[in-house]
Amino acid sequence: MLRGNLMRVRKAVIPAAGLGTRFLPATKAQPKEMLPLIDRPIIQYIVEEVVTSGIEDILIITGRGKRAIEDHFDCCLELESYLREKGKEEWLRVVRQIAQMANIHYVRQCEPKGLGHAVLCAQSFVGNEPFAVLLGDDVIAGDKPCLAQMIDLFMEVQASVVAVERVPREDVSKYGIISGEEIRPRVFAVHDLVEKPQPEEAPSRWGVTGRYIITPRIFGLLAETPPGAGGEIQLTDALRRLAKEEQVFAYAFSGKRYDAGDKLGYLKATVELALEREDLGAAFLEYLRNLLAERS
Ligand code: UTP
Repeated sequence: MLRGNLMRVRKAVIPAAGLGTRFLPATKAQPKEMLPLIDRPIIQYIVEEVVTSGIEDILIITGRGKRAIEDHFDCCLELESYLREKGKEEWLRVVRQIAQMANIHYVRQCEPKGLGHAVLCAQSFVGNEPFAVLLGDDVIAGDKPCLAQMIDLFMEVQASVVAVERVPREDVSKYGIISGEEIRPRVFAVHDLVEKPQPEEAPSRWGVTGRYIITPRIFGLLAETPPGAGGEIQLTDALRRLAKEEQVFAYAFSGKRYDAGDKLGYLKATVELALEREDLGAAFLEYLRNLLAERS
């Protein structure tokens, strides 16, 4: 096939309209995507992953009570002129850079009717091309961004790709689990997906995580998908039908994923990302060592 005929991934969608009930009461009046991991809100890590993967057009699905997300990626003239007057050039650069990172668009999901419904809200932004979906609370750390790894595979296979990770047997009931065939290390041809199976019914231990590259056929399937578990329109249900119609691949990415929308996942992300930081890592490690010595 001529290189010019290859489909490319040019747009990313970040669903961030969920209510964040697992993180109450912190999420009563602020979006969970704006909770800080050290000094950046969770969603900034996701936007940075998109940008470093080479995509500049991003749609964030927001909802009531999520205005702080828009304010964060907007310019803030009062703050900029204050920082300029005080000669805080370094902070001025940091603040400005956030607003210039990408072309960010917003659409509101009027009711949190599920991840599938949130993705359907992106249809007119995406149009008829493949697109990436990154969940607003799944942070993945690693040398090469997870999305960039998936785009490499997409360019080769020209078909939908879902990110998977190997999950402990007792946790399979928290994930969509794939059944499929490992066609080479890290790459699976997906035959089916099962939402939250019991361990004895799980077809594998490969759980779908918060990164997807999907062909636009998904929109037609989502529009026909009835509400499933919890009365919500499930993306997994539509992906399952997609896998029956088209080839779908799963990719076991390299990197470490944190579910920052869960209290324990959030704590792990905070500690491990802090330990990686040049400005904080050494002092924080010393603090942790002393703390553990005191407690053991
Ligand atoms: P989650 O289930 O993790 O988010 O959805 P939630 O519903 O906010 O969380 P809890 O379970 O109540 O704590 C995964 C992603 O899908 C988005 C969420 O914002 C999150 O990024 N989402 C979920 C939507 O955008 N709309 C929805 O209707 C549901």
